[in-house]
Amino acid sequence: MAAEPVILDCDPGFDDAVAILLALACPEAIDLVAITTVAGNVGVAQTARNAGVVVALAGKTTPVHAGCPRPLVRAPHDAADIHGADGMAGAVLPAATRPAEAEHAVDFLRRRLRAAPPASITVCAVAPLTNLAAAVVQEPAVVRAVRRLVLMGGAIGLGNVTPAAEFNLFADPHAARVVFGAGWPIVMLPLELTHQAVTTPARLAAIAALDTAAARTVAQMIRGYPEAARARRGGVPLHDACAVAYLVWPELMSGRHVRVDIVTEGEAAGRTLVDWHHPGDAALPLVLERIDADGFFARLIEALGRLRG
Ligand code: RIB
Ligand code: CA
Repeated sequence: MAAEPVILDCDPGFDDAVAILLALACPEAIDLVAITTVAGNVGVAQTARNAGVVVALAGKTTPVHAGCPRPLVRAPHDAADIHGADGMAGAVLPAATRPAEAEHAVDFLRRRLRAAPPASITVCAVAPLTNLAAAVVQEPAVVRAVRRLVLMGGAIGLGNVTPAAEFNLFADPHAARVVFGAGWPIVMLPLELTHQAVTTPARLAAIAALDTAAARTVAQMIRGYPEAARARRGGVPLHDACAVAYLVWPELMSGRHVRVDIVTEGEAAGRTLVDWHHPGDAALPLVLERIDADGFFARLIEALGRLRG
């Protein structure tokens, strides 16, 4: 079967970096058309720089487009306290081999999707949804070209920024409202799923034991993750890599098609109201709840071992 064309929208961010590496390590399943970045974990210039560095680390030349520098409505809110001021948990990284493209990410999304056949490109979004919302508002027809939107974000229960909201949707709830209402098929990976995929000491040791620059960098970033955040979960949750893993190994995960509404105002802004107990038809978002974490890490570690940058 031919590899699936994918555009990855991200905000590197340590777990975004692992997501990029995993996508580049699986060319048999993912044809990574381009990476678009947005302000999120750190500012958009830094997320674009970090994406370029990770692409170089993998020895690839995937184009990177920098996108929106701030949310649609709310003031910017970053996660530098978790990902570090540089967004890469202080890891020592190579220089990017190519600068970000001159074309803005939203212009790229509109141009690339406008030209694509119906349902021909998958978008994987692992950041605040500002770029995607801007593209949909400016050119609603882009939805037609998207086979599916696989996104890491939201929570069925507790958030991770406030009790109500997970970071990607907290950062830009208005963009999330636009994206969830756009009409494209959505697969949502909430915190309940990604918190099952944590780098325990044994998994970290297996990654560190790999003899590749990419794996060494991932191990370095895991070790650079704030100790308090690691202790809370027994390891570092690889939120964004789970979204890419779904593209390659969907059999590792399961969920239900349920209604998802987004709270955009007030104390609960960014909350996803997931009607978990009333599954519906396939037109509703597929909200994933379970992952085979051992199976995920076995495949991730094998993939990282293949990346010879
Ligand atoms: O809540 C987790 C999400 O927020 C991940 O995408 C992580 O990179 C941060 O952006
Ligand atoms: Ca992210």
